[in-house]
Amino acid sequence: MNHISYINIVYIVSCVLFATGLKFLGSPETARRGNQLSALGMLLAVLATLSAHEIISFQWILIGGIIGSGLGAFVATRAAMTQMPEMVALLHGFGGLASVFVDWSAYYNEFVHFDIMRIPAGNHAVMIPAIYLSILIGGITFTGSLVAWGKLSERLPGKPMLFTGQREINMAAMAAVLLLAIPFFMHPANNLVFLAILALSLILGVLVVIPIGGADMPVVISVLNSYSGLVACTTGFVINNVLLIVVGALVGANGIILSYIMCKAMNRSLNNVLFGAFAPAKKKSTATAKGEVKPITPQDAFLILEAARSVVITPGYGLAVAQAQHAVRELGELLEKNGADVKYAIHPVAGRMPGHMNVLLAEANVPYDQLVEMEHVNPLMDTVDVAIVIGANDTVNPAAIHDKSSPVYGMPIVETFKAKTVFVIKRSMASGFAGIENELFYYDNTRMIFGDAKDVVQKLVAEFKSK
Ligand code: TAP
Repeated sequence: MNHISYINIVYIVSCVLFATGLKFLGSPETARRGNQLSALGMLLAVLATLSAHEIISFQWILIGGIIGSGLGAFVATRAAMTQMPEMVALLHGFGGLASVFVDWSAYYNEFVHFDIMRIPAGNHAVMIPAIYLSILIGGITFTGSLVAWGKLSERLPGKPMLFTGQREINMAAMAAVLLLAIPFFMHPANNLVFLAILALSLILGVLVVIPIGGADMPVVISVLNSYSGLVACTTGFVINNVLLIVVGALVGANGIILSYIMCKAMNRSLNNVLFGAFAPAKKKSTATAKGEVKPITPQDAFLILEAARSVVITPGYGLAVAQAQHAVRELGELLEKNGADVKYAIHPVAGRMPGHMNVLLAEANVPYDQLVEMEHVNPLMDTVDVAIVIGANDTVNPAAIHDKSSPVYGMPIVETFKAKTVFVIKRSMASGFAGIENELFYYDNTRMIFGDAKDVVQKLVAEFKSK
């Protein structure tokens, strides 16, 4: 067996570790192990790659590794949990850029400067379309992710950026880059065509993301995540690397599945998220919530909670903003000590990123078995004594069930309104992400506890402790 075969065997072991790691990420109990397995797979893959005879400069690899790891560690340690989506956007963007550089150098070695030390290439029938796709998808991923990062971090306006003729310009740019495939396939050594494809792809990345509102960026990031996987996959075909092909395909498929799950949980189609800004504006719901808002103090709310035998805590984006997760865990423990059955209802798109609530609650060491998916908690909801909604809004809005004119109509919700009593903890009557009123706040069984989520929960905790 030659050295390449050994490397490929290690790559296959890495692929198995990645696939198993991904499987383990599906549950909070096994997620840590999943991450460790994937990291081990990555370590093996890097070591195997470093042993390849084709490596011409360990010095440059070391310099790149030190700069990259240093920057990565610096950014990751400074990013707050609520900034994760924008950080992930940057990481995908640079993943796309790295693939573009690999493809670019492979292209030069193979078609422009034949005399330079070659990256081992596959046959041209595979390589040429693979280079074309890599440059196209990698370019879009890089600049698209930068725009997504800009919007999420508020360095760019979050509103859709629209201008006259935008749709036509986008379509013309897309058509041009597709048509350039013909001369590129016929004369791949034509450097100008290659550079034109690269430039148009970079421009397209900006053009396709600017018309999308900042609020839809998490879905866009998930789609770009999928693209970064696809570009790794096509790069694998360019440089004949099995590992890149398999891992790229895994990431590509994952990203698309996640985008689909997010869209489904928001009752949107991917088409609507990506091209919604060009569609005629939907009529906004004209329904106004009826009833009276009934505020309650934490002291009075405590008296009801003290008597409760079953409590469902429903967290949302406001919990993340207030960083109330530790206080909430403490409240949950005190309620349990007091004899109540406590569950946490998890809506798939509560917060602003996939798994946002799971991550926050896990950070505060809330026991995994108390986290219940929305579809499992809803059938129990009418037996629940108190539902405590903490910083959630759209994900508990009953209009999603019955108001056909509501923008959230059809979105599955945590049916907290069915509980005997609902406490809603938020700072004001302000709307949530969808920008609409929430009729739950006016229901007879709802009491509003106004204030910052952390403050209010700490007050409830203090009541329990002082009893
Ligand atoms: P939202 O509907 O966004 O409502 C959050 C509420 O938290 C606001 O009404 C706000 O009211 C309150 N809040 C903010 N800061 C607070 C604080 N410090 N203390 C207490 N309350 C605070 O939240 P949700 O129910 O989690 O829904 C998520 C929304 O985001 C959905 O519409 C979903 O479709 C969308 N979305 C989610 C994702 C993912 S992947 N999770 C991606 C894109 C979009 P006050 O200002 O009155 O306090």
